[in-house]
Amino acid sequence: MTDLNPQAKHMADESMVRNLDAQARAIWPQEVELIRRYGLPPDIQILDAGCGTGEGASRLAELFPQSRVLGVDILDHHLELARRRYAALASRVRFEHRSIYELDLPDASFDLVACRHVLHSIPFPDRVIAELVRVTKPGGRLHLIPEDYGMLHFQKGAVDPKEFWDEVPARFGEQTQTDLNIGRNVFTHFVALGLEDITMDYVVVDTVRVPRETFAAIITAWRDGYAEVSAEVSRFSVEQTTAYFNQMIANILDPKGYATWMVPVASARVPRGRR
Ligand SMILES: C[S@@+](CC[C@H](N)C(=O)[O-])C[C@H]1O[C@@H](n2cnc3c(N)ncnc32)[C@H](O)[C@@H]1O
Repeated sequence: MTDLNPQAKHMADESMVRNLDAQARAIWPQEVELIRRYGLPPDIQILDAGCGTGEGASRLAELFPQSRVLGVDILDHHLELARRRYAALASRVRFEHRSIYELDLPDASFDLVACRHVLHSIPFPDRVIAELVRVTKPGGRLHLIPEDYGMLHFQKGAVDPKEFWDEVPARFGEQTQTDLNIGRNVFTHFVALGLEDITMDYVVVDTVRVPRETFAAIITAWRDGYAEVSAEVSRFSVEQTTAYFNQMIANILDPKGYATWMVPVASARVPRGRR
């Protein structure tokens, strides 16, 4: 139960390391403004749940210069990379092997709990959110990026990527027991847990706001990591899934083209009276 990770192979792939780097470069400049709105002081305790290679943990540590940050993940390769990359922050930033289903950390330990790009990839996201709430201090904040694969839009070319997005995430979700529309569903999970001051915002990764090369690097990494499994779960062949990804990349790189990925950013406060 503690290490359910149906995408373990893809998460460990070299293409995922590239993807996390490009995603952070695309998303953080808009995300940081949303985090500033929480009005948190510089010396807080932060958890980055499912920290991967430390893209979020390191940026949070820099944003809150007196904070202490704990990044947890179940992929040791990612944790080792994060420790090497952010060795200069080691006095304030730790990376530990822990499962976000069962953190084995005391209740009410953190002022800010981030969980970026994880909840769409694992079964029972409601259990994980409840565990994150448990370790958040009363009055503390949850900051989630719950992806939603109905929020990507590309122009048609040789093939129409809409056909891919209409079919593949639904089949993939069924076969892995994961919710690839968690972005639109997370509000309901927050309400069920009695959280307050819920906000839903969007980072807009599009060809106007984000350098085309950065956006294209994300989709290229997805193609390299996911074209094969997308074919396994759907009616498409690997050639077809690759062609859909290639059309998305061509669309993004075309100076006359427009493409967008709406990335949900969900936040809520744990009620102050909560024990
Ligand atoms: C797409 S990556 C996101 C990494 C990072 N949050 C970021 O924004 O760059 C998802 C991460 O969740 C981790 N993960 C999956 N299941 C987990 C679990 N049960 N406990 C801890 N981490 C988990 C994966 O190993 C992977 O590193």
